[in-house]
Amino acid sequence: MSRLFPLALLRPLALLLGAAALLGACDNMAKQPRDKTWTPANAASDGWAWPPQPAPNTVAREDRPQPAPALTPALLARGKERYEIYCTPCHGYLGDGDGMIVQRGFPRPPSFHGEALRNAPTRHFYDVATNGWGAMYSYADRVTPDDRWAIAAYIRALQASQNTAAAELPETVRGTLR
Ligand code: HEC
Repeated sequence: MSRLFPLALLRPLALLLGAAALLGACDNMAKQPRDKTWTPANAASDGWAWPPQPAPNTVAREDRPQPAPALTPALLARGKERYEIYCTPCHGYLGDGDGMIVQRGFPRPPSFHGEALRNAPTRHFYDVATNGWGAMYSYADRVTPDDRWAIAAYIRALQASQNTAAAELPETVRGTLR
């Protein structure tokens, strides 16, 4: 009996110690830094936040105004494609503001062929696509900076297509007009 006693006591003791260690581990997990649902970004005291948030009063690198790429036929073609995907629903294929959503009741955007927008700098079209404008929301999350410039270039081409006097056209082109 005296030889069995320590063994009989050891087993429950070991179990108890094991359980205590496990409980301690659970406690650590419960207390580790983490964001709860609806915790504002960067609210965790030690700065844990995923995905990493931009520092206050800064903009993400890709949202900084980007310089215009070189104007090439490829850029114009890309601009036409992107314009027709993202802008025609409201601005229409001609840029006159008669897109399909407008025909269904969305507020009508101004025509790109009006005086003010014809005289606006090309950067204005880039900026409106980046930041939105009045009732129009931003396209920064869907259209990359280079594509915004491509669209701006294509809008310039659309404007030229509606506002160039026949006398300003090259001889070869003028000959094909009816
Ligand atoms: C869902 C409809 C909609 C789409 C899509 C849309 N716009 Fe607009 N846009 C508007 C409306 C509405 C206005 C006028 C907003 C106002 O004045 O409150 C506007 C205004 C503008 C203006 C004129 C700003 C000024 O100086 O008056 C520009 C430039 C413009 N949009 C560019 C774009 C470009 C580029 C795209 C595609 C990337 C685009 N829009 C897609 C609805 C849209």
